[in-house]
Amino acid sequence: MAIQDTTTKPADADSSRRLGRAPAPESLDPAERMSVDELRDLQLTRLRWTLEHAYTNVPLYKAKFDEAGVHPGDLGELADLRHFPHTTKADLRDNYPFGMFAVPQDQVSRIHASSGTTGRPTVVGYTRQDIDTWAEVVARSIRASGGRPGHKVHVSYGYGLFTGGLGAHYGAERLGCTVIPASGGQTAKQVQLIQDFRPEVIMVTPSYMLTLLDEFERQGIDPRGTSLTTGIFGAEPWTERMRLEIEERFDIHAVDIYGLSEVMGPGVANECVETKDGLHVWEDHFLPEILDPVTHDVLDDGSYGELAFTSLTKQAMPVIRYRTRDLTTLRPGTARPMRRMDKVTGRSDDMIILRGVNVFPTQIEEIILGLDGLAPHFQLVLTKEGRLDHMAVRVEARPDCTADRRAALTREITATVKDRVGVSVRVDVVDPEQIERSVGKFRRIIDQRPRD
Ligand code: DLL
Repeated sequence: MAIQDTTTKPADADSSRRLGRAPAPESLDPAERMSVDELRDLQLTRLRWTLEHAYTNVPLYKAKFDEAGVHPGDLGELADLRHFPHTTKADLRDNYPFGMFAVPQDQVSRIHASSGTTGRPTVVGYTRQDIDTWAEVVARSIRASGGRPGHKVHVSYGYGLFTGGLGAHYGAERLGCTVIPASGGQTAKQVQLIQDFRPEVIMVTPSYMLTLLDEFERQGIDPRGTSLTTGIFGAEPWTERMRLEIEERFDIHAVDIYGLSEVMGPGVANECVETKDGLHVWEDHFLPEILDPVTHDVLDDGSYGELAFTSLTKQAMPVIRYRTRDLTTLRPGTARPMRRMDKVTGRSDDMIILRGVNVFPTQIEEIILGLDGLAPHFQLVLTKEGRLDHMAVRVEARPDCTADRRAALTREITATVKDRVGVSVRVDVVDPEQIERSVGKFRRIIDQRPRD
């Protein structure tokens, strides 16, 4: 399976981007001010501790290391990590619910879980100190995005087993902000709260931000006139086009936050608003690698492949070379000493293989957003006719889009997808309000193909 880089341009190629103000250097965490050499020394010390901790306390890691013929003592330098085995989601599922924990249960102060579409959820645990570390990296992420102590932060990520709500919440409190724990849903009420409480910062999935946008417009409120200055968006892939759309429609800075529950939750990496050139991985706590998606060998920085993480400070559930399935590239640091990852434009799980061509929903997003007459709401429907897979792009027209314009748009999208992505698709430009709205992570792909 050959996976190509599907980003249409490198994250730092867009010079038209509006940039924000950097935090004062004295407000940064010590790790954000380290030299790269200091950071690597810290990582090596922490990595040695993590390998030992995992080997001694988690039977799965002991078994895997022994089978691979490696021992924590074999780590001489950071690059030796490549000799250690990977961890996958299947390992977590097989050890459901608490088999991956490295501390006794009475030291676990919180549990989260990712929903998982089938079968068992993936369970993760945190000690009190892990919760503290998590708050620190999310506080750092909010500050990197432009949030400051004293700001009000409206959190529309879901609260509960999902890490989005509580992760954002503790980080905002740690930074010294006032948190508005709105959670997901009740969209009309969210708009009212934003109007009345006047937050500067919103933390929400980009797709739910679009749902909020519709609601502002429905209530006749100008979304550009709110108190918001900064949006911190993550939990699902989103494109540069989506950034432009949200920044323009709300007159805010739209900044990317990345994370996954297995590694911590939100706040594993975050963009800096003064550069908006990819997400700095908070490498003092999470060591990233890029792996060849097929062989799983380590690739050099600058290569596109599957992102893997080793936690460096986690107590309750250390992860060793956890394969995320997220596809990206690592680049040197700019605004911070830590390396940056490009925006995650696809996940190997979400890749559609259509008659031999790899397609990511973000490629379709890049094409649809920015076309006059279309709303930014779309879904991809997969069907099977005979032995062939088909994909329909369902996208919503804006209320003022005429029948002629719709026909022209249908032709234009069909031709552009064929030209840029290399596949023939059916395009349905549907009436306004016909596509379901997101309340959290949005389901872009509707797979109606029969399971064989
Ligand atoms: O989505 C954690 C999170 C919450 C991140 C809020 C950011 C904001 P999970 O539910 O475990 O955790 O899902 C993790 O979501 O492997 C990616 O595929 C995707 N993802 C998360 N952030 C981004 C992002 C949370 N900024 C999975 N861009 C990850 C693209 C993202 N994909």
